[in-house]
Order: sequence, then structure tokens, then C-alpha cells
Amino acid sequence: MDTEVPRYSILEIKNLCVNYGGIQALKNINLVVNNGEIVTLIGANGAGKSTTLRAISKIVNPRSGEIIYQGRNIIRRQPHEIVQLGIAHCPEGRRVLARQTVYDNLLLGAYIHRDEAQIKADIQRQFERFPRLAERRNQLAGTLSGGEQQMLAIARSLMSRPKLLLLDEPSLGLAPAIVREIFRIIENLRATGVTILLVEQNANLALQIADRGYVLEAGSIVLTGAASELISDERVKKAYLG
Ligand SMILES: Nc1ncnc2c1ncn2[C@@H]1O[C@H](COP(=O)(O)OP(=O)(O)OP(=O)(O)O)[C@@H](O)[C@H]1O
Ligand SMILES: [Mg+2]
Repeated sequence: MDTEVPRYSILEIKNLCVNYGGIQALKNINLVVNNGEIVTLIGANGAGKSTTLRAISKIVNPRSGEIIYQGRNIIRRQPHEIVQLGIAHCPEGRRVLARQTVYDNLLLGAYIHRDEAQIKADIQRQFERFPRLAERRNQLAGTLSGGEQQMLAIARSLMSRPKLLLLDEPSLGLAPAIVREIFRIIENLRATGVTILLVEQNANLALQIADRGYVLEAGSIVLTGAASELISDERVKKAYLG
């Protein structure tokens, strides 16, 4: 049986500009994500990585450009419409609801859906994917470890049933062992057909699981290529791989 995923661009960003007041955070960004890929966006603090994700999910309003998702320009859509179209954003810093249980956090992630039986099945699916969350289903999210909160944040974003997952710094502040566990799960997600745009400061890790990458510097894309090429590129090595 042929299990090859047909390749087409699920997301195409063209000449995207974002300003915060007088600051130009993104300057004519161009970027493509193909269906079934993990694409990573790497860069230093303040390069504009999170802003790129925020522009796609419409947490910030782009000044100009186009964001083509499955063939249509979504740049003027509302944030809830973006979720309904199949794009989920797992934000930097996790942002789980500390005073709600693991289970209720997952339930809230399904807010765009009404099919209760399917929602329950989806929660079960997340528990299979993240056994640590299953054991802690009735625990308040604020009492989870950092790594468990990151797992919950990812699981919650999957509850909207995204085709495209925007993942912002999943490794931030976590111990290497838990980061490896989370990155293994991200790789498995791609295998289930979720396309992933992964923002990371840990370029080495990100390039190990990504298909392609973009390097962002001061609001501009300065380099792009296959992850296998970027990981051995002298400029990337020097600036981002320590
Ligand atoms: N709400 C805001 N108001 C004003 N400026 C902002 C705002 N958010 C971000 N910026 C600025 O925009 C630029 C890009 O920020 P962004 O958060 O996208 O960077 P980043 O690459 O995600 O960095 P980090 O690795 O630290 O998360 C920075 O110069 C930042 O100071
Ligand atoms: Mg950021």
C-alpha cells in the first residue's frame, strides 16, 4: 500500500510585514510549509519567531502581505475562524489554565466542537499519546511539572483537530530527557498527518526532526534549506549550534 503523503503547500506566507507601534518586527517574510512536513523556524531572541506564529493565528494583525492556507488568503480572518479552518497555536510559555484539571484543560481545547462522543474519544487519544497526562487527569494543571504542562499545552491544541500545528518553543526551560520525550511525540504527530511549524531556539534539536528550516534574523529570513543541509551549514553552526 502506498502511504506517501501527497505534497502540496498547506501554508504560504508572502511578503508578510508586522509592526508593533513603530517597531518593524517582520520585514517581508516569505515562507512555505508543505503538507506533512515539520518546518522549523530558528533564530535568536527577538528575531520575530513568535510574531510569525501570532500573525498566522491572528493574535497580532499583520500590516501587509498574504497568508495563504489551503489555497485561500486568511490574513483578514478572525482568530476563532483560523482555529475552525484547522490551524492550532500552542503558545510560548504553555499557558495552561492552572486552576483547572488536566481533563478540563483538554475539554476547553475542544471548544469549537459540539460532538461530545468524539470529544471524549479525542481526550482518550491524547491520554494514549501522553500517558503522563492520563495518570494526572484529575490533577490541577498548575501543579504539573514544566514538562507535563508542555505536554498538556500540546495535547490541548490537538483537541481542535488541527491540520497545521504552530508550536512555539516546546523545549523552553525543560530538562533534556523530557525534551527528547516531547520531540519524539512531535515526530509521531507528523506521522499521523499533522503538519507542523516548529519555532525553536534549540536549533540543533529542531533541525534533527525537521524536514526543512528557515533562519530568521531581526525580522528577515536570511537562510532556508533542507534541515539536513542547515545542520551542517557553517553560518548556522557558528550562530546557532554553539
Ligand atoms: N507586544 C509587543 N509590543 C511591542 N513589541 C513587541 C511585542 N511583542 C514582540 N515585540 C518585539 O518584536 C520583536 C520580535 O519579537 P518575538 O517575540 O516575535 O521574537 P522571538 O523570535 O519569538 O524571540 P524569543 O526567542 O525571545 O521568544 C522583538 O524585538 C520584540 O521586542
Ligand atoms: Mg518567541
